[in-house]
Amino acid sequence: MFETLQPLPADPILGLSAAYRADTNPKKVDLGVGVYKDAAGSTPVMRAIKKAEEHLCQEQVTKAYVAPVGLGEYNETVAKMLLGEDLLRSLGRRRVTVQTPGGCGALRMAADFIRKANKQATVWVSDPTWANHVPLLGSAGLGIEKYPYYDYDKHSVRFDEMLDTLQQIPVGDLVLLHGCCHNPSGADLSREQWQSVRDIALSQGFTVFIDTAYQGLGDGLEEDAYGIRLLAESLPELIVASSCSKNFGLYRERTGALTVTCTSDQSAAAAITLLAAAARANYSMPPDHGASIVQTVMSTPELYADWQEELAEMRNRINGLRSMLVSRLAESEVDTDFSFIEQEKGMFSFLGVGKEQVKKLINEYSIYLVNSSRINVASINENNVDYVVESILAILE
Ligand code: LMR
Repeated sequence: MFETLQPLPADPILGLSAAYRADTNPKKVDLGVGVYKDAAGSTPVMRAIKKAEEHLCQEQVTKAYVAPVGLGEYNETVAKMLLGEDLLRSLGRRRVTVQTPGGCGALRMAADFIRKANKQATVWVSDPTWANHVPLLGSAGLGIEKYPYYDYDKHSVRFDEMLDTLQQIPVGDLVLLHGCCHNPSGADLSREQWQSVRDIALSQGFTVFIDTAYQGLGDGLEEDAYGIRLLAESLPELIVASSCSKNFGLYRERTGALTVTCTSDQSAAAAITLLAAAARANYSMPPDHGASIVQTVMSTPELYADWQEELAEMRNRINGLRSMLVSRLAESEVDTDFSFIEQEKGMFSFLGVGKEQVKKLINEYSIYLVNSSRINVASINENNVDYVVESILAILE
């Protein structure tokens, strides 16, 4: 029965890590998968996370099953981080949050949930969007369409064209937005643009679905939640898939959440039963360790303060790396203006080079980046920046 199976090509993002590991060039640089790296090129366990783990090791008294919706306290903590205390209170029981296996688990749960509400639903994703959005949501049976988003020539959001498309999207469809630090472009909506999207969502009646995986890595924990909070406060319904992979550095612990706001307490009470059933049918219950760590950090004042401090260090370091890359490129002989990289947010930006040039960077210079020319800025450091700049210069010649 398996004899006819054909191997699939490598994953466009995760496949790069395997290729990078196999490369023996001592100068190799991995600008592929979105993980934070420190000045030494490692992805450390954050200080507060380590302490919370030690605490859990000592204090946790059971490994008995958790509920399909996960740890209740964690769900409330995540909802508070996303929505803020006041909004959380005013939404009351119209809002439900469930723990999921990472942000991907949240997206997949959202897809199952959407299908239960409307089998015909189409999700409109930004063009471009994160490489896994389409397979992940599409394989759950949702229709996928694109709205214009990034202008590769102007290095900015094609906002007028985006609005033109949003104006055609009907009730029953969903528009997937990135909460902050747009992946892959790093180009975010301004506050005014979020407000315009809110106005169109209200007039058109489509449902907004936000994916947020980088809260705290753009402008700050509160600042990065602006769009989510604006829409949660003004729209009758909203879906938010969130991840603790990057801002807590919990990548492999698969720690995420799905938050849904409904028009009434009754609909939200129904929604939570559907979400619990979807979890049970897919994986029964989410893994506990990451969520327990997050809960411990967020409920222990010293750990919370230290986590916020380290998150700010990470954010500032990434922004510093953006400036460093731009200034080193400007100092080199390169003709292209890369200053846009400094304006973009989070881990990613497009280098803005073609597919052949990306191939050259990988094959001839051992610099690994996504086919679209997306780079993970957080992987650049003092030791590799000169080589990265030299190589970019070489492929542009
Ligand atoms: C990325 O975009 O590189 C990360 O979100 C990791 C992933 O799963 O693709």
